Amino acid sequence: MKDLIDKLENERTLSHTEFKRLLSCEDDYLHERARETGKRFFGNKIFLRGLIEFTNYCKNNCYYCGIRYANKNAERYRLTKEQIMQCCETGYSLGFRTFVLQGGEDGYYTDDILCDIVAKIRAKYPDCAITLSIGEREYESYKRLFDAGADRYLLRHETANDAHYKTLHPDKMSSENRKKCLWDLKKIGYQVGCGFMVGLLGQTLEHIAEDLLFIKELDPEMVGVGPFIPHSSTPVSKEKLGDLHLTLNILAILRLMNPNLLIPSTTALGTIDNDGRELGILVGANVVMPNLSPVGVRKKYFLYDNKICTGEEAAECISCMKRRMENIGYNIVVAKGDYVD
Ligand code: SAM
Ligand code: FES
Repeated sequence: MKDLIDKLENERTLSHTEFKRLLSCEDDYLHERARETGKRFFGNKIFLRGLIEFTNYCKNNCYYCGIRYANKNAERYRLTKEQIMQCCETGYSLGFRTFVLQGGEDGYYTDDILCDIVAKIRAKYPDCAITLSIGEREYESYKRLFDAGADRYLLRHETANDAHYKTLHPDKMSSENRKKCLWDLKKIGYQVGCGFMVGLLGQTLEHIAEDLLFIKELDPEMVGVGPFIPHSSTPVSKEKLGDLHLTLNILAILRLMNPNLLIPSTTALGTIDNDGRELGILVGANVVMPNLSPVGVRKKYFLYDNKICTGEEAAECISCMKRRMENIGYNIVVAKGDYVD
C-alpha cells in the first residue's frame, strides 16, 4: 500500500482501480499517514462549526432520510428568525465563528425570507462565516443568498453514479441536477462542500471510487462523509449501518488527496461508535460540528435512529467536544476556519 499512498500524496489522485485497492486497505498505515499529513498542515487545530437545524419540513422523499416528506411520524417544526438569531448569539459567546443553517427543502423559506435572515446574521457577526445547507435551488436563488452574505454551502452529492442515485431517490430527483447545483455554487463564489454516505443501499467500492474521482474534478473546499444509519420510518429501515473502518479509510484518502481540505468528523460517525468522532480526527478530519439548535427541537431533526447529542444545551455540547478533542491531543480553536489554498 505504501507505493499507492506515496502516489496519492504526490499526484493527489489515483486511477479508479487504484482507489478501489486503497479503499480496501485493512491495516492502520493509511490512517497513520493521513494523520501525519493533517498534523503537518493544521497542527493540532480543530475548527468548530455551529449547526442550526432550522426546519425539518422537506418536500423531498430521499429513501434514506428520516425527515423525508412521506414520513408522517416526523413531528415538523420551523425556527423563527428570532430563534435563529438567538442560536447565533449563544454560539458566538461560546466561541463559534461559523454558523451552519441546515434544513429540509422547505418552501416556506423563500429567497426573501432567507436573505433577510442571512443579512441579519451577516450584519451582526461580520467576523463569522455563514454556511447554508438547504438543498437544491436555482442559480438565481443561490446568487441572492450569496449577495446577502452567505459564504459557504454544503450539498452532499450523495453518490456520483447516476444509476445508483436513481435507486435512492424518487424519479424527479437526479444526480445531474445535484451536481449542477454544486457547479453553480462554485461559479458564484461560495466555498463549497460535497460528500456522501458510506454503506448506502447498493453502494459498492466502484461507486466510492467514482465519488472520489468526482470530488477530484469538483475540487471542493469541504467534503462531508459519514456512515449511513437506517431510520425506522423509511423504506430502507432494515438496511445495515455503514462500516466504520471503510468510513475512516475514505476520510484518510480525502486528507491525502487534498491536505488543505476541511473535513468534518461527523455526528453520524459518533453515533455508530462512541469514539467515532475522535477516530475521524485521528485519520485526518479537522472539523467538528456541535449542535446549536434549541434543545426542544433537536429530537425532531431525526435523520436516522439513535442520533447522538439531542439532549444537551449548546454549552454542554461544546465542553464535551473540547474534552474529547483534548483527550486525543487536539484543540478546538476560536476561528472562522476558511479554506486556505
Ligand atoms: N436538505 C439539505 C440537503 O439535501 O443537502 C440538507 C439536509 S440533509 C438531511 C443533510 C444530509 O444528511 C444529507 O445530505 C445526507 O447525506 C444525510 N443523511 C440523510 N439521511 C441520513 C441517514 N439515514 N444516515 C446518515 N446520514 C443521512
Ligand atoms: Fe429532505 Fe432529507 S429528504 S432533508
